[in-house]
Amino acid sequence: MTNQQSANPSLADLVSLKGRNGVITGAAQGIGAAIAHRLAEAGADLFLIDRDGDQLQRGTRELAGFGGRVRLAVLDLTDSGALQAAADDAVVQLGGIDIWVNNAGISPRVGVLEMTDEQWDAVLDLNLRAAFIGARSAARHMQAAGRGGIIVNMASSTVKRVSANPMHYRVSKQGLVAMTQSLAVELGRHGIRVVAIAPTLVETPWVAKLRACGYGEGFDKFVKRLPIGRIGTPDDVARVVLFAVSDLASFVTGTMLEVDGGEGCA
Ligand SMILES: NC(=O)c1ccc[n+]([C@@H]2O[C@H](COP(=O)([O-])OP(=O)(O)OC[C@H]3O[C@@H](n4cnc5c(N)ncnc54)[C@H](O)[C@@H]3O)[C@@H](O)[C@H]2O)c1
Repeated sequence: MTNQQSANPSLADLVSLKGRNGVITGAAQGIGAAIAHRLAEAGADLFLIDRDGDQLQRGTRELAGFGGRVRLAVLDLTDSGALQAAADDAVVQLGGIDIWVNNAGISPRVGVLEMTDEQWDAVLDLNLRAAFIGARSAARHMQAAGRGGIIVNMASSTVKRVSANPMHYRVSKQGLVAMTQSLAVELGRHGIRVVAIAPTLVETPWVAKLRACGYGEGFDKFVKRLPIGRIGTPDDVARVVLFAVSDLASFVTGTMLEVDGGEGCA
């Protein structure tokens, strides 16, 4: 387990997730699907949640090839009853939860003056409230099982810089960072680590949609200014999530890992 240290584990053992059960939200495409791929490759059994059942089937078809169990749950994460039931179901189907990844998030482009109450609620309900309910459900199961665990919250590099990101999105991601810190402090004594991941711009179906709406030129200018000089890939982020949930990161908690191509120092 993440909180148990053997005297001198091999590198392969440190990276391996064999025998661990992971839940990932928003796993049908983009960053969530890439995380599912890497965790499955590392040997984890997975319970994958998304509201898009067709895409979830398509995006996860190859995961069975890694040999672990893969279970799919189609639900809207803003339905808190359905989300809590899914967490319980993950425990029944896999036999416990060792890893919970709050990945799903939305970022509708809208200015402050035009932003409606409903638009504010939609972003905060998914990006922050559902992440809290998911983390709480997972932590309760982890604490009851007594074998520790790890919770990952998908933040964004925009917590440090506005860039072109809408206010409700930035507020939700800042909230996730605060939640990460508080959960780490409260849950550390149960052997539960909590880590936020902060990617910069990553080429996902969501970004493709924004390109189709005319944001592509701005994105291209933005990534040229990054020290690494290119846009992120979903797998750039998934590799860091794999590190965070593995025993390589056994002493990492309450912090935010920036996967930003150097945006922070540019
Ligand atoms: N792509 C980027 O540039 C970028 C940068 C920083 C952070 N992030 C964050 O990474 C995460 C994933 O982003 P992405 O670009 O891969 O997104 P995406 O839109 O490509 O994929 C998100 C997935 O979440 C699912 N989803 C959305 N709302 C849901 C709901 N209410 N219930 C269940 N499932 C729902 C979608 O069906 C989709 O499969 C988000 O939290 C996002 O804020 C993305």
